[in-house]
Amino acid sequence: MQPLTIATDPIDGQKPGTSGLRKKTRVFLEPHYLENFVQAILDGIGGAGGKTFVLGGDGRYFSDRAAQVILRMAAANGAARVIVGQGALLSTPAASNLIRKRGADGGIILSASHNPGGIDEDFGVKFNGPNGGPASEEVTARIFEATRAIRAYRILEAHDVDLSRPGTRELGGMTVEVVDPVADYAELMEGLFDFDAIRAMIGGGFRLVFDAMHAVTGPYATEILENRLGAARGSVRNATPLPDFGGGHPDPNPIWARELIEIMSAPDAPDFGAASDGDGDRNMIVGPGAYVAPSDSLAVLAANAQLAPAYAGGLKGVARSMPTSRAVDAVARARGMVCYATPTGWKFFGNLLDDGRITLCGEESAGTGSDHIREKDGLWAVLLWLNILAATGKGVNALMEAHWREFGRNYYSRHDFEGIETARAEALIDDLRGRLDRLPGLEAAGRTVESAAEFDYTDPVDGSVARAQGIQVQLDGGGRIVLRLSGTGTSGATLRVYLEHVETDPDRFHTDVQEALSSVIAAAHEIARIEHHTGRTEPDVRA
Ligand code: G6P
Ligand code: ZN
Repeated sequence: MQPLTIATDPIDGQKPGTSGLRKKTRVFLEPHYLENFVQAILDGIGGAGGKTFVLGGDGRYFSDRAAQVILRMAAANGAARVIVGQGALLSTPAASNLIRKRGADGGIILSASHNPGGIDEDFGVKFNGPNGGPASEEVTARIFEATRAIRAYRILEAHDVDLSRPGTRELGGMTVEVVDPVADYAELMEGLFDFDAIRAMIGGGFRLVFDAMHAVTGPYATEILENRLGAARGSVRNATPLPDFGGGHPDPNPIWARELIEIMSAPDAPDFGAASDGDGDRNMIVGPGAYVAPSDSLAVLAANAQLAPAYAGGLKGVARSMPTSRAVDAVARARGMVCYATPTGWKFFGNLLDDGRITLCGEESAGTGSDHIREKDGLWAVLLWLNILAATGKGVNALMEAHWREFGRNYYSRHDFEGIETARAEALIDDLRGRLDRLPGLEAAGRTVESAAEFDYTDPVDGSVARAQGIQVQLDGGGRIVLRLSGTGTSGATLRVYLEHVETDPDRFHTDVQEALSSVIAAAHEIARIEHHTGRTEPDVRA
């Protein structure tokens, strides 16, 4: 088994986005494409010599092959040990936990998150650092630099490593430790939450349904919700991970998790519905007949987390991504907690968590998490919800209602305009940027602009600056419009328009969300000249 040095040339476009490198699977299948990027990761972090890594992913098409290539490259680059989930499976939160628990030097996660999988769909590779979180901007920049400087990669010529059962194997002097992907994660969850109280609630007739969307959380949810907490067999649906996620989009939102929404809309709906995404870091929460917006979920969790054992001492502070609604800000204000607003991307929470400034954080894009790991965590959110429901004895809808009465309701929606030509999407943002000074005082669709600015973020821990992270337009009465371009797409540009309207009158807490936002929506179209730039009058997705 000789390590080979294979000559290669830099490949264009290997710049990691919001969350690692995501491309069409066929792009990853091109000669040297995966190998170049993996070598760039190893070079970008200062080499693999003597290091320990965690490896796994959501099981999408090509993961098994990619895992074997990465193992051979890690060995050829001198890594000491790679801890791999059985079958190359690890949810993103479980990988984050393993990196931390085992003191690893980092991890490589094979996933394109909620994007569909298959030879004609998406694949992705992401590096997480020793804190268990997505690589910082600085490390990401070094990896990108390495993709542009690469001349050769190192790989071992060897047979596949058996990843089908736990145990320790040897590969060219490197140890490959195959672990049960669920065990450590389930143990972590048991330590955070009051499993007895949740078990008692379920034993008392509380019914739940969890849709794993044929993605990685199936085995995790079955073990935790059914085996350990006593939910009825079959409560976890679509529980077998499939390479193409059964042909679906493993994205937990009312559009792609239609089946769950239908179950939760039926007259005999269970008490609680939830779903997670491809790699297990996103979550969706649904009450009987009512979807809980991710921004609202973050606020409710922040207001009630102290009911779970892990957070009984209270929260140090909270954070949200800038486009996320300010529902959580209201909770922080009332509780005297600090609330940070960061750019989109979980990596920006890392320093705040590491520095002990915050305990809980979340994003409008269905991600919530805490300082227990350094990734957002779908099942964790589900368990915190269940713990809170068990402790309060309230149902999902009653809890939301009580929350709005105390803090007001931040009506919120994100409108996505997909597949726009990149130049046109950029022109829209540039045009708006050029008019920011002139917007305050402007009347649009009956709303008045109070202020408008581009969001630049200075990390309070290390002082690093991330510029041009989106444009915020504040309207009268606490309304807000945010515009930015997605950083996770694999073709063309997606314009994201985030819309928010604050309501404090309880008589108006049950309006249709799009209706409640109608003036904000109309103002957004007028102010950003969306039709002029994109030719679109309606979004592709209303999340
Ligand atoms: C991923 C990231 C999140 C981010 C989301 C949307 O899930 O982990 O941090 O909020 O993508 O990002 P985008 O750039 O597409 O709006
Ligand atoms: Zn994900």
